[in-house]
Amino acid sequence: MDALIVYTSNTGNTKKVANAIKEGLETSGINVKTVDSKQAVSEDFFSYDLVCMGSPSIQWSPAKPISDLLKTKLDQYRNEGKILPGAPKVPGKNALIFCTYSGPHTGIDEATPAGKTIRQYFEHLGFTIAGEWYIIGEFHGRLDLSTLGRLGDIRGKPTSKDLDKIKMDTIQIAKNLTK
Ligand SMILES: Cc1cc2nc3c(=O)[nH]c(=O)nc-3n(C[C@H](O)[C@H](O)[C@H](O)COP(=O)(O)O)c2cc1C
Repeated sequence: MDALIVYTSNTGNTKKVANAIKEGLETSGINVKTVDSKQAVSEDFFSYDLVCMGSPSIQWSPAKPISDLLKTKLDQYRNEGKILPGAPKVPGKNALIFCTYSGPHTGIDEATPAGKTIRQYFEHLGFTIAGEWYIIGEFHGRLDLSTLGRLGDIRGKPTSKDLDKIKMDTIQIAKNLTK
């Protein structure tokens, strides 16, 4: 099986999660290619069994490089006639969405719109959603937003324990995919 990981990360949190997912997939014997959002423009998502897409939540939306990518690819697949009424499932095509966030003001509610936006994209393509993950990450450079926000003291997150769990959860997803 082949998997593609596409992500953007400004301060490293999403990158850590992407690496943990990569480790989980490789442990499961899946071939993994990792690209940034620019390189992803020339990738055909339908060539992979699993596409993992990750972004920080930025003003409760995906970060701009990911939003731009989604728009470009949606236009491309629409022109190719792959966006169909009823969004029929395309067998064997799966997506894993991961979103890191700090939730300083309203908690996870200021991250879910970002994850759901990415999810909608893959659902429109007919992919099966293998997971939609929200992972707390320190708000680097803002002590107040990392300690006084709704989620409390989130310094150091995602921790190595958080990342181990992501790796284990990825292995579980991989098991289900190969069934
Ligand atoms: C300009 C800016 C806007 C942000 N907006 C949100 C937000 O709306 N909701 C949220 O939960 N976190 C928000 N964050 C926090 C980031 O989503 C969080 O720290 C994330 O883990 C950063 O990922 P990265 O290290 O991969 O860039 C924002 C951070 C920045 C710098």
